[in-house]
Amino acid sequence: MDRGNISLSRRRLLIAGVISAAGAAGYFAIKKWQKRGTSAANWATFTNKLRIPGHSTQLGEASDSIAHPISLQTGVFALPLLDGSASDVWGYGQRLADGTVQINPTLFAKTGQALNVTLHNRLGDDTTIHWHGFSVDELNDGGGLHPVKHGEQFTYAFPVRNRSGLYWYHAHPHSQTGLQVHKGLAGLVVVEDDEELQLQKSLGTQWGENDIALLISDKQFGPRNKMEYELAADDWIGNKVLINWTPDPVLETGAGWVRLRLANASNARLYRVAFVGEGGDPIPFQLLGTDSGLLNKPISVNDAFLAPAQRLDVLLDLGKFSAGDVVMMRSLPYDPMENDMTTGMPEDPMLEHPGATPMGDAIDLMLIRLSANKPKATGSLPAVLSTFATGISDSAYRRAFRLWIQESGRWMLNNWNFHQSHGQSVFQVKRGATEIWEITNEMRSMPHPMHVHGFQFLVTGRQNSPHAMKHAAADNRGRTPQDLGLLDTILVWPGETVSIQIDFSQPYQGEHRYMFHCHNLEHEDQGMMVHFSVVD
Ligand code: C2O
Ligand code: CU
Ligand code: CU
Repeated sequence: MDRGNISLSRRRLLIAGVISAAGAAGYFAIKKWQKRGTSAANWATFTNKLRIPGHSTQLGEASDSIAHPISLQTGVFALPLLDGSASDVWGYGQRLADGTVQINPTLFAKTGQALNVTLHNRLGDDTTIHWHGFSVDELNDGGGLHPVKHGEQFTYAFPVRNRSGLYWYHAHPHSQTGLQVHKGLAGLVVVEDDEELQLQKSLGTQWGENDIALLISDKQFGPRNKMEYELAADDWIGNKVLINWTPDPVLETGAGWVRLRLANASNARLYRVAFVGEGGDPIPFQLLGTDSGLLNKPISVNDAFLAPAQRLDVLLDLGKFSAGDVVMMRSLPYDPMENDMTTGMPEDPMLEHPGATPMGDAIDLMLIRLSANKPKATGSLPAVLSTFATGISDSAYRRAFRLWIQESGRWMLNNWNFHQSHGQSVFQVKRGATEIWEITNEMRSMPHPMHVHGFQFLVTGRQNSPHAMKHAAADNRGRTPQDLGLLDTILVWPGETVSIQIDFSQPYQGEHRYMFHCHNLEHEDQGMMVHFSVVD
C-alpha cells in the first residue's frame, strides 16, 4: 500500500497552523525543564548494569559467531526493560539447543567468512533483514524490494567482504521500517580482520571488558511501559535512551584504555557524543574508526556527531583515573537546525513524544564507573591503525542530489519521492565506476543522514557548513575527523553541500538494485528514498 498520500505528518499539521499559542508556551516551559538531568547531581539515577553483548543469552547480551548457519525467527517477546510492566519487543529470536531464545544476537564475523542466516518470519507482516553497510548483491541486501512474507523464510548467504568494523542488521520492509526498528528489530555485527586484531593486541583490550559495543536507541514509552509508535509520523524521537536495551546504564570497567564502539540505531535522534568528568570538563578521546572500519590514524577529538545509522569507534584513556571515579558519556547540546517549518514556530516534540528531550538538548547517556576488580588495558596505541585508499579521483563521474521539502511537507530527493517512483531505478551506475555524489541540503530543511546501500564511500569535501561543523573541520576540504573514515551514512546539514566518492566495483553481473535514502526512518518511510541500479 502506498502510504505516501495519506501521510499526515506533524510537520504538515504544523504547516496547516494547527498548533495553538498555549501549546507553544508549554513547549518553552518544558524545554527549560528538560535542560536538567545533565549535572553530576543527577548521575545517581544511573544504576542499571549495562547489558554487554557476549555476556549472556538475554536481549542486549546475546551473541554468536557466523562460523555456522544461523536461524532467526521474528516474533514479539515480553521483556522487562523499565521498572514495572514488561514491554513487548519485536525481535529476531535464535533458539538455542537448550530451548532458550536469544534475541537480536550480536553476530561476530571475520572478513572473508561466509554468512548464512535464515529468516523465519512470524511477525504477522512483511519484514526483511537488511545488512546495513555490507557489500552485497541485490538479493542479500534485504531492502524493501525483497520482502519476506509472514509464514515464509529466506536465507541470506554471502561472503563478508567488508573491512573490520561495527555493522548492523535491521528490518527494512516497505513503508514500515520506522515501526519495526523502533519496536526492536535491529542487532549488531562485529567484523574483524588482521588490522583489527593487531590493534586489540597492541592496546591489550578485551572484548566485553574494556572493548564494548553499544547499540544506542531512544524509545518512546507510554503507559505500562509500552513502546509507542505512530505510522506516518515525523522524526520519531523517544523519551528514554536505551543502550544495549539498558535504561540509565552503568558500565563498570578498569582504569586504562576503554574502547567503545557505538552504533546509533535510533529512528531519528542525532547525538553529539562526548565524555565528561565529575567537574563537567570534557575528556578528549581518540576517534579510531567510523561506519566501515578503522581510520588510517587515530584522531584526538572532544566530541563527534553520531547520526542515525552511523557508527563510531572511540578510545578513552582513563589511565589517570582511579577506582570509584566516574565519567559520563553525554550527548552535548547542539543547534538541531530544524529549519523546515514554514510557520516560524519551533517544532513541538512533546506533541507525540511526551517526556522526550528535544533534539539538540543535552542528554546523559551512560555512566562509566572505574572498578579495581576489572581488567586494565595498558598497552600502546599504534600511530597507524589501517591502510585504505583515500585518493580523490579527478575523473569521477559527478551526480548532484538536492534534499528539500515540498509545501505539503513531503521530503524529496531531487524530484523523486519513492512513493511516486515506486520500485523503479531512477538512475544507473556503471559497475566498476568511481562516482562523486554532491549532496546539497536546502537551507529550509533539517539535517539528513543519507545512506547508500551496498557500498562504502569517502567524503571528499564539505561546503557551506554550519558553524559547528566548520569549527570541527580537520582539513581544508571542510571535512571533520569522522569524514576521514570510510562511511556508509553521511550527515548533511541545512545549507550544506557534501561530496562523497563511491567505488562501484563489485563481483556481480547483470543489474543489481540498491537504495539511497535518508536514514531518519520516518523520512525514509515517507519516501525520501530512491532505487538506483548498478549495471555492467
Ligand atoms: Cu540501515 Cu536502507 O538502511
Ligand atoms: Cu511506498
Ligand atoms: Cu531526512
